[in-house]
Amino acid sequence: MNKRYVIGNWKMHGSLAMVDAFSRALAYAPSPDVVAAIAPPHPYLGACSDLPHGCGLAGQDCSAHDNGAHTGEVSASMLIEWGCGWVILGHSERRTDLAESDQLIAAKLATASSAGLIPVLCVGESLAVRDAGREETVVREQLRAVLSEQSPASLLVAYEPIWAIGTGVTASPEQANAMHAVIRDELTALTEDGASVPLLYGGSVNPDNARGLFDCPHVDGALVGGASLDATSFSKIVEAAQASLEK
Ligand code: 13P
Repeated sequence: MNKRYVIGNWKMHGSLAMVDAFSRALAYAPSPDVVAAIAPPHPYLGACSDLPHGCGLAGQDCSAHDNGAHTGEVSASMLIEWGCGWVILGHSERRTDLAESDQLIAAKLATASSAGLIPVLCVGESLAVRDAGREETVVREQLRAVLSEQSPASLLVAYEPIWAIGTGVTASPEQANAMHAVIRDELTALTEDGASVPLLYGGSVNPDNARGLFDCPHVDGALVGGASLDATSFSKIVEAAQASLEK
């Protein structure tokens, strides 16, 4: 697959001042083969509408409903109106903090996709699961619970092992690559277009470890948390993605 994706998930961080500083400090040369996008908190989407270097926008979540009486929810069509091309769904923080079920995530995926957003479906195991040697089984189950033959052709999957999120402990390139091969295998069995779904790795990605991950044959990009809050480190990760395509 000759494309790379670098999506920055700001989670509940940022401010208008930070958006301004980020926008002024972004410094990578755009490439048609590297998709770079930021998922800011929803209230800052409007302020991010003009990021330089073609940096795109993603939502951090969306409602399973098209519209209606759902206080606090944000619809897929609203995200599209603010310029989003992608939406992160099933992040482990939402699965844990908000008890999001596979069923709800599947409903959000269907709604987002029929509205025209490309879902970025997150999967990943806890440390206890990995210690028990059950990581492959659990990740396969997470995919099966949400995806089917009817799943959208346009989809990204992000492998985010929970033990690597925000801990500074990144999965090694070998661990990431091995799990991505498992995900590819499962996707190919589950969905018609599974062979071409881009696979992103997420969990303590930074400018120093990004290249090693991008050089893995089964890694097509990164979902970046903490390191995406700083425009310089985000830009370096985008550049690492470009360099991995040029090798
Ligand atoms: P960190 O890069 O901060 O570990 O976060 C990863 C993540 O959860 C991105 O969605």
